[in-house]
Amino acid sequence: MSNDISNYNNWLDAWNDFYEKEKELVELDPNAALVSSVDAESNPNARVILIKDVSNNGFVFYTNYQSQKGKELFHNNKGHLTWYSRAQKVSIRVQGEVQKIDDSISDNYFASRDRSAQISASISKQSETVESREVLDAEFKKFANENEGKVIKRPQNWGGIIIIPRRVEIWSSQLDYKTRLHDRIVFTLSNDQWTKSRLYP
Ligand SMILES: Cc1cc2nc3c(=O)[nH]c(=O)nc-3n(C[C@H](O)[C@H](O)[C@H](O)COP(=O)(O)O)c2cc1C
Repeated sequence: MSNDISNYNNWLDAWNDFYEKEKELVELDPNAALVSSVDAESNPNARVILIKDVSNNGFVFYTNYQSQKGKELFHNNKGHLTWYSRAQKVSIRVQGEVQKIDDSISDNYFASRDRSAQISASISKQSETVESREVLDAEFKKFANENEGKVIKRPQNWGGIIIIPRRVEIWSSQLDYKTRLHDRIVFTLSNDQWTKSRLYP
């Protein structure tokens, strides 16, 4: 694909191209992205997550469903994801509906994780106040000791969330950064049809 992002006919091809390249260019967390949500009073929030799967269905990441993001994303079932590649001068913005993914997929992913990450997910009341680092470490140790030699099952409040895109924007300054005449191509879903348009930078 040339640098002209308007040649893409769908957002998934664009994502696949840029993400494959990003993995070659960036050693640490090429899959890091911001997920945004709003709380019940419409206050915005955003935090970094790691994208674990992308398909035609959408963008999947894993988290604690009882965390602040979990509560906020599911209070209106809407979410937003922003991925940025400094190396490629590209950003991808995804707006859509959120859903929990199938338990069986979350189970498989949880089982593939490092045991220490499984323990952390099991003890973490993500986004709640914890008294100190010592308390956290003690809870980790206690859980590890109590479950030594046992398979750690996925906690019910931990699993995958998919953002199902309704609008995906690709921004690129690959052609000419100096003029700020950047390219913005947006794919929008309406009546089950994706349309593509170009936006002013
Ligand atoms: C590089 C990086 C990757 C992260 N990946 C995840 C992730 O995949 N899932 C997750 O729940 N939190 C992840 N976090 C932590 C979140 O940014 C956040 O602190 C946490 O999920 C609590 O957010 P909340 O209170 O808005 O729910 C990551 C943080 C960083 C800096």
